[in-house]
Amino acid sequence: MRHLIDITDFSVEEITGVLDLADKMIANPAAYRDTMHGRILATLFFEPSTRTRLSFESAMLSLGGSVLGFASADSSSAAKGESLTDTIRTVGCYADIIAMRHPKEGAPMAGSFKSSVPIINAGDGGHNHPTQTLTDLMTIRREKGRLDRMTVGLCGDLKFGRTVHSLIGAMSRYEGVEFVLISPPELRVPGYITQGLRDRGIPFCEVETMEEAMPRLDVLYMTRVQRERFFNEADYVRLKDTYILDPEKLRDAKADLSIMHPLPRVNEISVRVDDDPRAVYFKQVRNGRFVRMALITTLLEACDEH
Ligand code: CP
Repeated sequence: MRHLIDITDFSVEEITGVLDLADKMIANPAAYRDTMHGRILATLFFEPSTRTRLSFESAMLSLGGSVLGFASADSSSAAKGESLTDTIRTVGCYADIIAMRHPKEGAPMAGSFKSSVPIINAGDGGHNHPTQTLTDLMTIRREKGRLDRMTVGLCGDLKFGRTVHSLIGAMSRYEGVEFVLISPPELRVPGYITQGLRDRGIPFCEVETMEEAMPRLDVLYMTRVQRERFFNEADYVRLKDTYILDPEKLRDAKADLSIMHPLPRVNEISVRVDDDPRAVYFKQVRNGRFVRMALITTLLEACDEH
């Protein structure tokens, strides 16, 4: 049974396979229209989502499969006290594959231990979000033609931003990638991640302003300050608008910079940036559907082989 809980569950070669398949699906979607006919995807979302849940559902429908699920814990028997593992064992009787989002770090992994079908982590608390990372890798590869030899700036809430943690885990496996981590001191990347980069000799630096990093970046990955993870509303209010990317701040940026954001955004990218050809965050949204088509196909084909 293959699951996708952490992006490093897939080797670099397996990720290349998923991205190659997603590119083929974009080029010729009709060829894949019925490949998952008769298969069912369950989307179990214990936390809000627009892109991840709907892109998973759109992906399965585009492959000819069916979908079921729930969009909040309140509308499931979790509200009556059912355990996560009982929910997973139950849904495994109704569906062939499960994409789940949960506010608790590690919940998808715990669910996978008792699951009879593949589990995909669609975001667990402030920990990981591996399918957003597949989306991000696909976008970077389509924009740059490569995933190695580049400087990646990550800006905003690097403490609670699960997409950042997964993207660092993925990009640090490619040759010649450097990271510039842009955040206020309170929202720095967790120590276990920076220690892992140090141990592996991956170059990175931590700075507090985007202006000092901008001229050398090939990718600028903006993130929202994650209000839902703060214990204290006053801290959120103080930090929420630390970084607002606008055309003026891009004056010293490279002509081929890729400006990315997993979305949703609040204030951290001005809408005045949206028409800049370097802004690719809505291309990310589109790529997310195709890369999830490729992921569902890869995991269910792996099941069929056993
Ligand atoms: N990028 C992302 O995870 O968006 P949603 O929260 O809307 O799914």
